[in-house]
Amino acid sequence: MEKRPLSNAAWWKDAVVYQIYPRSFMDSNGDGIGDLNGIRAKLDYLQELGVDVVWLSPHFDSPNADNGYDIRDYRQVMAEFGSMADFDHLLAGLKARGIQLIIDLVVNHSSDEHAWFQQSRQSRDNPYRDYYIWRDPVDGGPPNNYPSFFGGSAWQWDAHTGQYYLHYFATKQPDLNWENPAVRHEVYEVMRFWLDKGVAGFRMDVIPFISKQDGLPNLPPEHLAHPEAVYASGPRVHQYLQDMHREVLAPYGAVAVGEAFGVDFAAAPLFTDARRGELSMVFHFDIVRLDRDNWRKIPWTLPQLKAVYTRIDQTGGSHGWNAAFLGNHDNPRAVSHFGDDRPAWRALSAKALATLTLTQRATPFLYQGDELGMANYPFERIEQYDDVEVKGNWRMLVETGQVPAAEYLAHLRETSRDHARTPMQWSADAHAGFTTGTPWLAVNPDYPDWNAAAQTADPQSIYHHHRRLLALRRSTPALVHGAYQDIDPAHPQVFAYTRTLGEHAYLVLLNFGTEALRYALPGGLRVAEAVLDNGAGDTAAAGASQVLLAPWQATVYRL
Ligand code: NOJ
Ligand code: CA
Repeated sequence: MEKRPLSNAAWWKDAVVYQIYPRSFMDSNGDGIGDLNGIRAKLDYLQELGVDVVWLSPHFDSPNADNGYDIRDYRQVMAEFGSMADFDHLLAGLKARGIQLIIDLVVNHSSDEHAWFQQSRQSRDNPYRDYYIWRDPVDGGPPNNYPSFFGGSAWQWDAHTGQYYLHYFATKQPDLNWENPAVRHEVYEVMRFWLDKGVAGFRMDVIPFISKQDGLPNLPPEHLAHPEAVYASGPRVHQYLQDMHREVLAPYGAVAVGEAFGVDFAAAPLFTDARRGELSMVFHFDIVRLDRDNWRKIPWTLPQLKAVYTRIDQTGGSHGWNAAFLGNHDNPRAVSHFGDDRPAWRALSAKALATLTLTQRATPFLYQGDELGMANYPFERIEQYDDVEVKGNWRMLVETGQVPAAEYLAHLRETSRDHARTPMQWSADAHAGFTTGTPWLAVNPDYPDWNAAAQTADPQSIYHHHRRLLALRRSTPALVHGAYQDIDPAHPQVFAYTRTLGEHAYLVLLNFGTEALRYALPGGLRVAEAVLDNGAGDTAAAGASQVLLAPWQATVYRL
């Protein structure tokens, strides 16, 4: 297959990215943990799907307090995942198929087992002391009221030197001190190390958090439950990113995707406006968090969702760009989250969601298994979870009696990150073909019916719908670059938008529900022919001004 007409400087705008969570993708040696050779064994699958880029969640040496988002050595491969030679083979295999690789840059924090931190905690005058953020106690307690995302205070007492260190995430993830120019240069060197190997760029973990507020004042009470807005608006974040761009990203022509957690719509263009020289694009969290209040699931409506899509598109403007996604390793499964994972609607709604993501004016990011409609795991008991976030919040909320266990568990069944981390479902063989050993996290029991082997053999599958969407996007510049217009923002069940580039116009019609309806196109619109449909019902003939929409029907029409 001919790949890579994407040779312009902003090639990544035309790309489709596939995220791999290595621990759960494919195990090559029977230890129950996915690994780099496992990924290499599945490259044909990725090529057939038609993706342009793989984003690899962290593959670096790590004690795995947070599954690799706690890095002990930025220049080593995690032993469970393989060796540096395995990494080099994987990269070569991807490139041979015209697929680029972006890796996960986790530099807001390191592991507490990183050599820098081991030094830093030795003494107050250690040369590495200033690589991290140490403060004296205030009134015998933590220096301020910052909460950690994984439960409790963001400050950890270290008796050896009699100070606290800052950790926005787990205690084993101390925040690096970006005020220290030596830290910034260490990060540039790490980036160059991997760029010299040939990676195309980075997904940047919680990158807006790198600049801390001057003086670290207490959070006002209204921010205590959602500290990310304050953590993401430090005074020097743009200076640091512009320096990084000038020093590393620009000279290498590297792509940078920022995890913009905590960044509001007004601030987003500051990160992505190409004239400023910071990041290529960002992930906005307003969609996947629409129905969330931390670990709680809250109600959402389709008009709310549509309003967020419009706002995100606007933040791109004419000089910026966005990343579109409905799932990743930190969120429940897309089909369970925004679709309908009951048997009758699971495949159709998964296809409808894919149609949505792959027709945005943004670079689509697909999360492993979503191309198969993998669904949430039927968790029942706290012991079934692995996630450090789940366990930290359990200690903080349930063990202290603040929240009844049954209530927390009921929400986790919908919101836990572990839903996305169960092993990839390759086949109907034991353990879904993921491993010959015992998988590190249970395989979803629905795998005999929902797996890659079945779907690659079935032209009507969710997998093949993704292939068709990828091909359509590749051959249709209007679906990548065209203006986005929601033509019916208030409709409670239909998501209808146009994509227009010059004389080329397309209409995307998505029925977000289980009722069939007759839909009169607003504004006197008439469809031309259907170019792609998810098979839920019939499509309308050219010239029609109204359309019968079957439950979860998703159609792309030419206008
Ligand atoms: C965001 C990552 O996606 C998540 O998995 C991780 O726990 C935190 N950042 C901390 O690195
Ligand atoms: Ca393995």
